Amino acid sequence: MLGELEMVKAMLGGDRRVVVLTGAGVSAESGVPTFRGRDGLWKRHRAEDLARPDAFAAHPELVWEFYNWRRGLVRDCEPNPAHLALAAMERQMPNFLLITQNVDGLHARAGSLRMVEMHGSLWQVRCTVCTHAREDFTDLPDLPECPVCGHLLRPGVVWFGEPLTPGVLRLAIEQIGKADVFLSVGTSSLVQPAASFCQLAKDHGAVTVEINREPTPNTGLMDFALHGPAGEILPELAAGLAE
Ligand code: OAD
Repeated sequence: MLGELEMVKAMLGGDRRVVVLTGAGVSAESGVPTFRGRDGLWKRHRAEDLARPDAFAAHPELVWEFYNWRRGLVRDCEPNPAHLALAAMERQMPNFLLITQNVDGLHARAGSLRMVEMHGSLWQVRCTVCTHAREDFTDLPDLPECPVCGHLLRPGVVWFGEPLTPGVLRLAIEQIGKADVFLSVGTSSLVQPAASFCQLAKDHGAVTVEINREPTPNTGLMDFALHGPAGEILPELAAGLAE
């Protein structure tokens, strides 16, 4: 009898429409801290002090210190086998979309192109006043200024209480609505709207798969739950496609 992993592998072949949602767990094996769990970022820092627009308005230096620290940390990290496997899947599958909640840029560095960074990117900065926005991998000052108008720059990430970039949610809903297979990888499934993508996929008849070290609130919705490190499970799935 086929094991769960073999059954999932068999469903990824051909021109199946596959949507993958990733979260911080996919970068854990690169050394990027996750948000929740024992060593999670939100154990050491209060999200409401650092990842909200009102926190930035009150203490921009504190928020920039946090983001500059994260930029420095991620700059030294490399994509891991989970990122590489997802980039390889994209090359093998004509109907593949990756939606990531991660802002670390590691999917792009691994070669993923058909990808939406739904919470923005640590490497994007934009002006708080004018339209200036750019990709920037350099060390930034404590309070970086806009080169156009001189006002304060902010990280190009989506904070709690902010809407997603226009179009992102519509694209996700459209693609998930057409998916044959929906994979949820390395996310605690606690933050909306991403946490409800699985239910959406299921309502539209997709086969749902979770890859996580631990069960999540969405595990009960899954047709398959593969428990273990993404850096081991995803390469096995991707290798199946190349055979
Ligand atoms: P979390 O930190 O909430 O969850 C990480 C998940 O990854 C957990 O379910 C872990 O069990 C799992 N995990 C850890 N290591 C893993 C591994 N090697 N392989 C597979 N799974 C592993 O991160 P997210 O779900 O991404 O938003 O968090 C969602 C959002 O909350 C983030 O985008 C961020 C955060 O606050 C904003 O900042 C707006």
